[in-house]
Amino acid sequence: MIALGSDHAGLELKNAIKLHLDERKIDYKDYGTYTTDSADYAVYAEKTARAVVNGECRLGLLFCGTGVGISMAANKVRGIRACCCSDKFSAEMTRLHNDANILCLGGRVIDVEKAIELVDVFLDTEFSNDERHIRRIAQITDLENRF
Ligand code: RB5
Repeated sequence: MIALGSDHAGLELKNAIKLHLDERKIDYKDYGTYTTDSADYAVYAEKTARAVVNGECRLGLLFCGTGVGISMAANKVRGIRACCCSDKFSAEMTRLHNDANILCLGGRVIDVEKAIELVDVFLDTEFSNDERHIRRIAQITDLENRF
């Protein structure tokens, strides 16, 4: 199960990705927003991040205008490693090296074709489990626990 969330500025791109996930027969749950009314991205970042950290969903996809605000909010949730990407290399590496659990995309930054490319590589790439990356992620968790 994949968790989805957006504000109004990410809604259109989120809806396009839902169609793509339907085509790929990938199950998802959409935590809102559901309309184009102005919405606060932190609200939907929290709902989506919660579904990922409590294990209901294995990964999350978040959408706002730039992908930036919603990634900042999601990263405040303990256990979330959210990455805002607009290139395929970063979307792949953030799974391989950072074990990112949420990908954040900007509806005002990238088009649907690019978003599909990034979502596919993000969902299809497993964490490397390499010892040095495990160590570095543990250091991120340590920072989270100390501040
Ligand atoms: C909303 O206008 C916009 O600020 C928001 O979607 C996002 O881009 C913030 O980072």
